[in-house]
Amino acid sequence: MSSKFVIQGKKPLTGSIKVSGSKNAALPCIAATVLGNSPSTLHNVPRIEDVYKMVEILEYLGVIADWKGNTLTIDPRKIKSKTLPHNLVKSLRASILLLGPMLSRFGEVKMAFPGGCVIGKRSVRAHLNSLRDLGAEIINTKDVLHLKLKKPNSTKIIMWEISVTATENIMMACSSQNTTNTISLTAAEPHVQNLCQMLKKMGSKIKGTGTSEIHITGTRKLKGVTHTIVGDYLEMGLFAIAAATVPKSKILIKGVSTAHLDSFWNKFKEAGINFTLFANEAEVSYTKKIKSFSKLDTRLYPGFPTDLQAPFSMILTQSKGISKIFETLFESRLNYLYELEKMGAKVEIYNPHQALIVGPTPLTGTNVESCDLRAGATLVLAGLIAKGETHVFNIDYIDRGHEKLDEKLQSLGAQIERRAI
Ligand code: EPU
Repeated sequence: MSSKFVIQGKKPLTGSIKVSGSKNAALPCIAATVLGNSPSTLHNVPRIEDVYKMVEILEYLGVIADWKGNTLTIDPRKIKSKTLPHNLVKSLRASILLLGPMLSRFGEVKMAFPGGCVIGKRSVRAHLNSLRDLGAEIINTKDVLHLKLKKPNSTKIIMWEISVTATENIMMACSSQNTTNTISLTAAEPHVQNLCQMLKKMGSKIKGTGTSEIHITGTRKLKGVTHTIVGDYLEMGLFAIAAATVPKSKILIKGVSTAHLDSFWNKFKEAGINFTLFANEAEVSYTKKIKSFSKLDTRLYPGFPTDLQAPFSMILTQSKGISKIFETLFESRLNYLYELEKMGAKVEIYNPHQALIVGPTPLTGTNVESCDLRAGATLVLAGLIAKGETHVFNIDYIDRGHEKLDEKLQSLGAQIERRAI
């Protein structure tokens, strides 16, 4: 049964909140468990739809998964080499994260092109090219992705572009072969670093974690480990935006290093928002007069994250003057602006990558639809600052990546209700 969120706006947010484990760290770490010769236990795993789908794919392949709260144990010892289940792969873009591990473990992998993506084209070229450099034979890329790996190379692999999941795939493949490889143009996000830490514990020798060049000496004998999923810096950003824009709010956000969001805090400073940072906590309070921005442009880490571009537009609708948005990574990540327009935001979309927001504008509650995960979370934020009642539809998108977002906001004083439709 599908549901919607019904939000009564303008209720102050107060108190403290702990963010969940990061979706984008949990997914590759779950994929990495198939490389171990014994079970792995992951702590702080968010219980969200994308994670459940990833686990379901692994169960289809024969792993035994067991949940206790937010701890997930995966026993990969009975895993079999099979074509990955078409429907699940199609419904989860992150299923691409099984390409490297399954190829490396079995010497062959067959899966459909992953789906689940409405935010842009997202080619799989960076994944295929790097695996080919490692020695994979690309048998088919027409109907399915079919790769074989007989003789892996010790070599330098230059990534086709700086890609988060492609970096994770090649790291997992290299870590589980008896090879030594240098991988350059690697992504450096905290979730990529979290996977590096797990692979090291499993037995891979990795240097260069968090940089654009990683050296890996792998082994066929990776073992199962206990590992903690890093907190979600994107969720910290989301709550920080809520506190800054909902009148009379003041909250303490915990559970992840604030250093993961340096470029985000820079923007907060530029806007004159009231906030204080501690190592793993941020205190943010409502700021009446927010300054506009010459430009908000999304960049690769440690630049401003594309995943916070949409939520940040809440700051832009409440800041005085004209702010420009330049979404440099994805070509379908501005569509949420049409929904904000329905609530009273003044926006102008120039092309798939660029838009203007003129503020400040009061927002008024109405019916709006999520068009992707981050857009959906943005509409929830908009509901929190709007006058009256906002109904956010298509909340399946939000549930894919946020664990109990409604309950977390309720605990801070928000009036948000999940209602069946
Ligand atoms: N791109 C550029 N220039 C570059 C590098 C990349 O334009 O120099 C483009 C790519 O062409 C692609 C896009 O940027 O269209 C994203 O690239 P990437 O391959 O890094 O994305 P991904 O690995 O498929 C992960 C996250 C996404 C997140 C992106 C960017 C996971 C499971 N997914 O995707 O998360 O937006 O990195 O940080 O880690 C989300 O959580 O909502 C989400 C979509």
